[in-house]
Amino acid sequence: MVDASALSQLREAFARDLAHASSTRDLQTVRDRYLGRKGGLVTALFADIAKAAPDARRALGGLVNDLKSHIEAELDARRATLEAARPSAPRVDLSLPGRQPVIGHRHPLTLVREQIEAIFTRMGYEILDGPETEDDYHNFEALNMPADHPARDMQDTLYLDAPFERPVLPVGVDRPDLVRPRTDAEQPATLLRTHTSAMQIRYMQRHEPPVRVIAPGRVYRRDNLDLTHTPMFQQIEGLVAGPGVTMADLKGTIIGFLRELFDADTKVQFRPSFFPYTEPSADVFIGCRSCNGAGCGICKRTGWLEVMGSGMVHPAVFAAVDYPDTISGFAFGMGIERVAMLMYRVDDIRLFYENDIRFLEQFPL
Ligand code: DAH
Repeated sequence: MVDASALSQLREAFARDLAHASSTRDLQTVRDRYLGRKGGLVTALFADIAKAAPDARRALGGLVNDLKSHIEAELDARRATLEAARPSAPRVDLSLPGRQPVIGHRHPLTLVREQIEAIFTRMGYEILDGPETEDDYHNFEALNMPADHPARDMQDTLYLDAPFERPVLPVGVDRPDLVRPRTDAEQPATLLRTHTSAMQIRYMQRHEPPVRVIAPGRVYRRDNLDLTHTPMFQQIEGLVAGPGVTMADLKGTIIGFLRELFDADTKVQFRPSFFPYTEPSADVFIGCRSCNGAGCGICKRTGWLEVMGSGMVHPAVFAAVDYPDTISGFAFGMGIERVAMLMYRVDDIRLFYENDIRFLEQFPL
């Protein structure tokens, strides 16, 4: 039967249960245990009241109602504290700096080309653009490599299936309205240029001396991919022509250029070489940057790294473009990949063309 002591025991039991409840879920369990519509301990008491003696009902009813209100109030209060302690929905902190969007990097070959272009621009050179499909005349013949010349084998050429007619643009200009008809010397393209040296001829055909130009661009050769070869790569050609240009000008220009591109104390060496379009010709080496000339794996224990070919323009080349005898000049050509590999210590040329973002991200923006 319900009595005051049973009620106070129930109140104490509830206090203990409430003390152990640490989540809203626990609170629900406690609520069900005491106030559940079916089987709730306090709910059951209301049924008992009905069975009590009529004169005791009112007092008992009051006590049970008190207990019920007490339990509800305690449960609500505990729920409120639990909810206040729970971390609220993430707040927006307007004072935080914005997230940097990932922006692309310029390609290392672009960086190197732009550096080289900047150095020559400061020295007063003009920068040329030219066609990647070439004719035999510009790529070989006018450069003193007539048909059957053995030097044609120095580079393995990729020929087009069929001759390719294309508009002829004045070099250095990219305006279709300036397209003019081909001259006799300009045949339909039959090959992919094997070197940017073809631009020497294209420029001199249309410009009187003095000449001071560089011509960056893609070139193509029948090479298989390996650590140092790709069938397409990039070169920068240089050409200077005018009255009284000497080998001393060639050396001074190239040494000055290399010391600006690498370090001010870079060692430079010229070694006799052969190119059909220059006489004399020289290969240019810089002191190995990895071992400082002592000899290491990168320079194949020689202490020197080859960076470009160069020479005094062959009289036959000037003759092909009708330049007078009083004009002399020098020319040079270098691979951009090769320079980039030395500058950034990249040991596999293929990395430049695989576009792996982990590689590209390592270069300055
Ligand atoms: N054309 C040469 C090559 O493809 C590079 C070169 C060497 C260019 C000597 C020149 C030069 O203008 O004088 O490897």
